[in-house]
Amino acid sequence: MTVRALREMKERGERITVLTAYDFLFARLVDRAGTDVILVGDSLAQVVLGLDSTLPVTVDDIIHHARAVRRGVERALLVVDMPFLSYQVSREDALRNAGRIMKETGANAVKVEGGSPEMVDTVAALVRAGIPVMAHLGFTPQAVNALGGFRVQGRQDAERARMVEEARRLEEAGAFSLVLELVPGPVAAEVTAAIGIPTIGIGAGPDCDGQVLVLPDMLGLNRDFQPRFLRRFAELGAQAEEGITEYVRAVRAGEYPAAEHTID
Ligand code: KIV
Repeated sequence: MTVRALREMKERGERITVLTAYDFLFARLVDRAGTDVILVGDSLAQVVLGLDSTLPVTVDDIIHHARAVRRGVERALLVVDMPFLSYQVSREDALRNAGRIMKETGANAVKVEGGSPEMVDTVAALVRAGIPVMAHLGFTPQAVNALGGFRVQGRQDAERARMVEEARRLEEAGAFSLVLELVPGPVAAEVTAAIGIPTIGIGAGPDCDGQVLVLPDMLGLNRDFQPRFLRRFAELGAQAEEGITEYVRAVRAGEYPAAEHTID
């Protein structure tokens, strides 16, 4: 899978599938299922590290997980999130950190959040350096404090117009794709129609060019998280709990290990 292939999928009206992964075994499952893009998201914070926001994730954290994911991916395009403040301080910092992520993980691209004029310049600099960039607008989790919480973005006319304008500028800067998170369906549809690069929605309705979900959420592993946009495609959390409870019972009862598990 390549960035060019994704753009061609948009042109042909083929929907793009994206999922997150954070380790080798799940990355291999996601890849073998035929997912087009695997994102090592900084949602790592909440679904792997037990943190309550993405802000504490470091470049070293994301590199550690992306290296494991890379070993499980043969077909999908591998995109790695740039952590909070690894690309906002200066263009040099952004290039150095994106370069580390690309060199040390074997990623095919990085993802950054926001559409300010400074961010558009950063995207252009990364693209000039040969680093494909996925952009991210709408609710941008690294700005959770500035945005006042986990909130839908783009409801007001001015916000909606700004999102369309930022999407156009990110496309001009060379971004190959754009994530739209927690955006009303009609706004996501307008942004999608306004640009030539594929939009990938999460909580953004059916009119984006593709869809992304956080893997533990869609597999039912993160049972406390149930926003309206989330469909659970499996209930692995319940199954895992059942299996672990049964293991504890069987060991305590002396049923496991049994003769057939014993080396002669
Ligand atoms: O970190 C992440 O998982 C993301 C997706 C929600 C797009 O940015």
